[in-house]
Amino acid sequence: MCGIVGYVGRRRLVPVVLGGLKRLEYRGYDSAGIVYLQDGKLTKFRSEGKLQNLENIMEDALGASSHIGLGHTRWATHGAPTTENAHPHSDCTGELVVVHNGIIENYHSLRNELLEKGHKFASETDTEVLVHLIEDYLEDDLQEAVTKALARVEGSYALGVLWSGMPDTLIAARNHCPLVLGIHEEEGGFMASDIPPLLPYTDQVVFLDDKELAVLQADNYAVYSLETGEQIEKEVKTIAWNAAMAEKGGYKHFMLKEIYEQPQAIIDTVSGRINPETGSVTLPEMNLSDEDLTGIDRIFLVACGTSWHAALVAKYWIERWAGIPVEVDIASEFRYRKLLINERVLTVAISQSGETADTLAGIRLAKELGSKIVTICNVVGSTMTREAHGTVYTHAGPEIGVASTKAFTSQLAALFLFTLFLAEKRGTMDAKTRLELGKELISLATVIEKVLPVLQDEIKELIENYYDSRDFLFVGRGLNFPIALEGALKLKEISYIHAEGYASGELKHGPIALIDKDMPILGITPRDAVYQKSISNVEEIKARQGRLILIGTKGDDHLKTITDDVLYLPEVHEELNPILYTIPAQLLSYEIASRRGCDVDQPRNLAKSVTVE
Ligand code: AGP
Repeated sequence: MCGIVGYVGRRRLVPVVLGGLKRLEYRGYDSAGIVYLQDGKLTKFRSEGKLQNLENIMEDALGASSHIGLGHTRWATHGAPTTENAHPHSDCTGELVVVHNGIIENYHSLRNELLEKGHKFASETDTEVLVHLIEDYLEDDLQEAVTKALARVEGSYALGVLWSGMPDTLIAARNHCPLVLGIHEEEGGFMASDIPPLLPYTDQVVFLDDKELAVLQADNYAVYSLETGEQIEKEVKTIAWNAAMAEKGGYKHFMLKEIYEQPQAIIDTVSGRINPETGSVTLPEMNLSDEDLTGIDRIFLVACGTSWHAALVAKYWIERWAGIPVEVDIASEFRYRKLLINERVLTVAISQSGETADTLAGIRLAKELGSKIVTICNVVGSTMTREAHGTVYTHAGPEIGVASTKAFTSQLAALFLFTLFLAEKRGTMDAKTRLELGKELISLATVIEKVLPVLQDEIKELIENYYDSRDFLFVGRGLNFPIALEGALKLKEISYIHAEGYASGELKHGPIALIDKDMPILGITPRDAVYQKSISNVEEIKARQGRLILIGTKGDDHLKTITDDVLYLPEVHEELNPILYTIPAQLLSYEIASRRGCDVDQPRNLAKSVTVE
């Protein structure tokens, strides 16, 4: 996610903002910028890459005497990570600047409107639309102009605004992206995307809520509703965290923070891509024509690790709803078999990092054989996105924990959108079904947000009987077989317990020999099309005294007749169970690894991105 830091007060702006951006580096970024007001003039610096590059180009400006300004670290979503796309962005006069985190969903239409009015754009970002829109409304009251501009905006934003016409004032505004104020009677006023930048100066903070705007000055602040314009009294909270805790948002590990970020990551991945009225899906960055899409007769999905599990789920979806045969390959195997690939094949690479060497080598080979290449990726401008013909970005934000969590569920959300998109283009799904599935996907984030804390409490208690196990089996059927694989991988990679994922129906073909009173087995048994078969499989395990944990549909009391250890989940459309049922598997692995004192965020022997073959 992008990082924002703003300050107005007695201190020199540059060290406060640069220091603050450094404390947000854990969020990940690919460019940075700073702007300050001095002698009535705005001075702006922007650079690609790390903050050191920004400091290098600032030289003497590092000693600037300014006391008001904004800084930003950008995690690219719309537009490559270049200097031109880095924030702050300026209006046509150069006297108004903004920094922004979030996604402006209707930026295309707003940009066209502003272009027709004569505004000149210098970047390909959605953010630049905001500064020109504010400029369009700006007369002599910045708060009024920002309020009017944001009334036109659909999407998510955490926003900082500075105008040379009001040299002692910063404006902050928030909708679906965190933004927090820091206040201190001597130190002045601060704004930031997260708490770490505030901690050296104050522990008094005000969390903005959605559709709220703050007017920030050195010695006072005020918060207003963007909807009513009324001033709002906000609670001032005292932060007891130290800096290390603050980077993790108070969570013990980045992995747990990222598990809890999944609802937002799914919302950000889906928003702006599916029409809630028609269910129609738009994936503009995929760059494939309708002819390309109707001309393909097979799809190859290529990935590694957790991303391969996402591919396995997508196979079920695409074949069922788009009617296209799908082959799924582990990338490191893909390259070493006789590939029957030609121009009628679409190859889809799934990769959080966009840099995995095996997957990258695979798409290069597929391209040589004539295939169009699409990548499902979380990192804008990564190698795979530059070599593919098109991309469907997940908007999970940077994933710090080595074990992939929010990136995985965002990949599934993106792949489900891709399925709906293909089905629409190929006429294999009626609009009613598409609308129903689209609405279910949109509402899934809320379901996950509600179950997370409840599940974590249940699992924290449950694992006391399992955390010292030597082995673990995960079993699932149909759409949930890949989730059994994913759960086993999560447990392996962060707790070092040997774990295997199996298709439930496969147990009797050998693995059932492993079952005894010491073998824990997690069974995924939602009420779905294969429920009865799944129940038969877990009954086979029970008959051999296996230690069963079942995850099933709330209200299914039959599960309690099989084992005492049942985790219940709300009923959602069964096509979306793989996304929902991943959550307890992640939490089980996390709680066991944490209980065992493992290095959850940086497990032994592992790298976040495997850029070697
Ligand atoms: C997932 O928990 C692992 N860290 C690993 O399997 C990962 O999914 C795999 O290395 C692929 O990475 P990518 O998605 O960045 O290509």
